[in-house]
Amino acid sequence: MSLLVRGIGELVTNDPALGVLHEAALVVSDGRIAWVGADAGAPAADEVLDVGGAAVLPGFVDSHTHLVFAGDRAAEFAARMAGQPYTGGGIRTTVAATRAADNDVLRARLAQLRREALRQGTTTLEVKSGYGLTVADEARLLRLAREVTPETTFLGAHVVPVEYADRPDDYVDLVCGEMLRAAAPYARWVDVFCERGVFDADQSRAVLKAGIGAGLRPRLHANQLGPGPGIQVAVEAGAASADHCTHLSTMDIEALAGSDTVATLLPGAEFSTRSPYPDARALLDAGATVALATDCNPGSSYTSSMPLCIALAVREMRMTPAEAVWAATAGGARALRRTDIGHLGVGARADLAILDAPSHVHLAYRPGVPLVSQVLHNGVPILSAASGRSGAESAVKRPESGEQ
Ligand code: NIG
Ligand code: FE
Repeated sequence: MSLLVRGIGELVTNDPALGVLHEAALVVSDGRIAWVGADAGAPAADEVLDVGGAAVLPGFVDSHTHLVFAGDRAAEFAARMAGQPYTGGGIRTTVAATRAADNDVLRARLAQLRREALRQGTTTLEVKSGYGLTVADEARLLRLAREVTPETTFLGAHVVPVEYADRPDDYVDLVCGEMLRAAAPYARWVDVFCERGVFDADQSRAVLKAGIGAGLRPRLHANQLGPGPGIQVAVEAGAASADHCTHLSTMDIEALAGSDTVATLLPGAEFSTRSPYPDARALLDAGATVALATDCNPGSSYTSSMPLCIALAVREMRMTPAEAVWAATAGGARALRRTDIGHLGVGARADLAILDAPSHVHLAYRPGVPLVSQVLHNGVPILSAASGRSGAESAVKRPESGEQ
């Protein structure tokens, strides 16, 4: 079954050979992009979706989330907005709620957040553990995450749990040993919260090394709350991504620019913790690869909205709309070391966000407006006309005979 998506006013392909096309069309077949080009030259297909001049982008790749949890920390957010600082200490509140929750409760929340993200154009999600912090709970959270995405990350080293507060090195040993063995079958990545007062450089190196030894690939929470060794540790370990990058030295920027480690920026966290935004301009100008992700979690960034992150990156971090859209799509794909997503060249997975707008610029120009009117995931439109949206959700039609 093939589907022709036509009437595309602006097509952001992220394919260097194609660039941004106008008056464009594409054909989807078997869940992949089979053809891209001028609308006027579009081939026939079994079905047609005319998007009426809309902008079309690759589906967003949200390469950093913590979606398996229970409870809510709205009171902590309200206290922060009244002047309390964010320290990461609230992670333990969510750990207690998550340990007490049964699988169905966690699964329902995860499914709800995944639907929420998909409706806003996110077609790939990375999901971390890190709110269990026992052998059984970390494995359980990753098993649940694996039900919705192959991009799962073992974050047993999220914080030292209360029961290990006076012997953190024993906890690191547990993470590197029994917990890793239980978690690894359900994880693709290993991550550590490398931060002053959480896990230091040596502890972080030990966890990454053990994870790599178990067949996982490294990524790191680095330099969120203050300057520190996180970026250097990430680059040394060959991490796919260093995430947060809020407090960077010149050496950190040079290390990222001179490596394959993607700088993943999470402006939802700075928004929600009222912190200074990372210096995206310095990273981009130095030649680093930048990704944008939501960091969706109940403490520091309770948003699943990639469009919000794009708007913040443009307004607050001086990224151009084109840079921000690239970072939220192709950048996320690089951060997950994926070549099948984040672009719309022939052969790419047919993951598309269709906007109720003529241009990608509207994602930042119209902040807070739900502009994603249709999403194709693996070539399948996932928003029904019943969702009450206008414009490009117009139904897929079978061509009349004689019509394309
Ligand atoms: O990425 N920094 C560590 N982990 C999360 C925060 C989690 C929480 O506050 O519950 C983050 O911001
Ligand atoms: Fe995070």
